[in-house]
Amino acid sequence: MTGRVAILISGGGSNMLALVDSMTGDHPARPVLVAANDPRAGGLTKAAHRGIPTAAVDHRPFKGDRAGFEAALSEHLDAAAPDILCLAGFMRVLTPEFVARWSGRILNIHPSLLPKYKGLHTHARALEAGDTHHGCTVHEVTPALDDGPILGQARLAIAPGDTSETLAARVLTLEHRLYPAVLRRFAAGDRSRIDLD
Ligand code: GAR
Repeated sequence: MTGRVAILISGGGSNMLALVDSMTGDHPARPVLVAANDPRAGGLTKAAHRGIPTAAVDHRPFKGDRAGFEAALSEHLDAAAPDILCLAGFMRVLTPEFVARWSGRILNIHPSLLPKYKGLHTHARALEAGDTHHGCTVHEVTPALDDGPILGQARLAIAPGDTSETLAARVLTLEHRLYPAVLRRFAAGDRSRIDLD
C-alpha cells in the first residue's frame, strides 16, 4: 500500500507528532495533512513547522450540524487524498456516514484498555475502579464510539501514588510508542494485533 496519511487532531498533537516523526525511511506511509476542528490547536503549528500541510475547520459555527462540519472537513481531506485517516486526540464524534465513507481506513487512539472506559475521564475512572492496570488502545473506527476492532494495546501497572495526572502522563508515553507501531503495520496491510508492555 502506498500510504497517504491524514491526521485529525483537536489539541496539542503529541500523538500526531509521534506518527509524523515515525513516517520516514522505509515506512510504508507518509503524512499528507494534519487537520483540526479548533484553529487554536497547538498541533497545527507543530505540524506546519515540520512542513506538513495543515487545515483548520472550526466546528463551533456549525452549532451541532455535524454533517455540515464534516462536509467542510471533507473538502480538505478530498484535496489531500489520504488512504488512511488517523484520529489523534480528535475530540469530535463522527457521523456514521462519515465513518462509512472511510470504512476500514480510520484508526483512533483511546487512553484506556478498551472495552473498558469508553468516552472521557478514563484515567480517573480506572483509579476509581481500583484497577491494577491501565493503558491505551488503537482501534479501527466504527460508528459506535470507541468501538471497532482492536489493533493494539499497551499496558502499565497502576502505582500506589498514581493520580489521574500521573497516569495520563505515563499512558501518553505509551501512546507515543503504540500508535506509530500500529500505523506502520496497518499501512503495510497487516492488521494483526500488537501488545506492548
Ligand atoms: C491522548 O491521550 C489521546 O489518547 C486522547 O487525547 C489525548 C490527546 O493528546 N484521545 C481521546 O481521549 C479520544 N477520545 P495529544 O493531542 O497530545 O495527542
